[in-house]
Amino acid sequence: MIGGGYVGLVSAACFAEFGNQVAVVETHPGRLAALRKGEIPIYEPGLDRLVAENIKADRLSFGDDIAHAVEGAEAIFLAVGTPPRNGDGHADLTYVFAAAEQVARAMTGYAVIVTKSTVPVGTGRRISEIVSRLRPELDFDMASNPEFLREGSAIGDFMKPDRVVIGTDTDRPGGAARAQEIMRRLYRPLYVIEAPILFTSLESSELIKYAANSFLAMKISFINEMADLCERVGADVHELARGIGLDGRIGRKFLHAGPGYGGSCFPKDTLALMRIAQEAGASSRLVEATVQVNDARKASMGARIMAACGGNVRGKTIAVFGLTFKPETDDMRDAASIPIIHRLVENGAEIRAFDPAGMTAAKPLLPDHNVTYCVDAPDAATGADAILVLTEWNEFRALSPERLRGLMQGRVVIDLRNIYDPAAMDTAGLDYSSIGRPRNPRSNSAATPEAQGV
Ligand code: UDX
Repeated sequence: MIGGGYVGLVSAACFAEFGNQVAVVETHPGRLAALRKGEIPIYEPGLDRLVAENIKADRLSFGDDIAHAVEGAEAIFLAVGTPPRNGDGHADLTYVFAAAEQVARAMTGYAVIVTKSTVPVGTGRRISEIVSRLRPELDFDMASNPEFLREGSAIGDFMKPDRVVIGTDTDRPGGAARAQEIMRRLYRPLYVIEAPILFTSLESSELIKYAANSFLAMKISFINEMADLCERVGADVHELARGIGLDGRIGRKFLHAGPGYGGSCFPKDTLALMRIAQEAGASSRLVEATVQVNDARKASMGARIMAACGGNVRGKTIAVFGLTFKPETDDMRDAASIPIIHRLVENGAEIRAFDPAGMTAAKPLLPDHNVTYCVDAPDAATGADAILVLTEWNEFRALSPERLRGLMQGRVVIDLRNIYDPAAMDTAGLDYSSIGRPRNPRSNSAATPEAQGV
């Protein structure tokens, strides 16, 4: 596994747990030293235990020597970073190609080289050319095996996937049967649980990853637009999501309205898909609209919050519950909290913020004045004029409206994740607003627990 970042580490630990022998190559010295001690540099529930157990069982090891890791390997995964290239929406493939060259030089016999990083369509073939050029005599196959891991539930997603996609070079005589056979063996435990394992061409596999993430992003932008419409016409977006989601063709998941999606994948992959389409001379208007709706939504949240605070936040203290782009992660990339908090501070608000995991990552991204970091949510709420829920961590759900009311100085609660029951908030005397639900509470419009099981 070349790369011990998020994707590489989770995949390596899970492949080891499947019984495979896995050597991870990590060239960052600090990261490597930590990993060797079983310290996990990322926040992912269950990963520390999985890594420790598999190190102990001698199935998982870490090093910085590619040649050592590659020797005798049947499959070599490239799981290095593909950050967005400066400004143009393209994935930066420098690290992927550099890793491919090092792997090519180090290989001693047949292996299948697999891209695990999210890479644009055609990258597998380009890597194949690089390897063939450097080592014309070398026998190898190329495969693409995109990950569909969600931060916070990555291990479950790997162990019990909706599907595994494996692209191989189907132009080759035999359709790269040898590569498919190796990949089948790697994923053998998934055959037992009957997870669908889909073999495709390299190009289809590469595109599936972008199309899946773009479609999910589109579902979120769609439900967010519907939430706005619900507010205008007095409908309830939870009832709407359930009513459309029970149609199996639509599906219930990813219909939870909120402040707009963030994270490391949707913002990056939607832009990358647009670039891929543009270069191929194809249209991607739905994805473009998805991105526009999301950007506009994040930008408009500040105004919504100010309106809920009576049109002005100057001199007001706002408790912020949650900073990360979603719960169960410390990841702040493209989190809605960033533009929202900047806007509120620019308009004179004092912020008392709490996030269970994201505060260290948040500090450099948020204003360095007028933001106080608190020890927990009740601490943040103490003396606040308003509470603003930005991430739906479970520990915030457990706080009773009466308790919040008792801690606060004001009464305003703005819940951009719909975690509270409007009727209960009303009973406690709070001035509660949420997303896509009528302000006047009705008994049947409680926060739906299944809506967050997305
Ligand atoms: C996503 C994909 O789900 C995963 O398959 C892919 O491999 C990587 O990208 P991740 O970014 O970890 O995973 O988070 P996800 O749970 O998909 O949420 C992404 C964003 O969408 C979050 O900001 C979340 O709050 C938001 N979201 C999600 C909604 O606003 N509503 C929903 O219904 C679902």
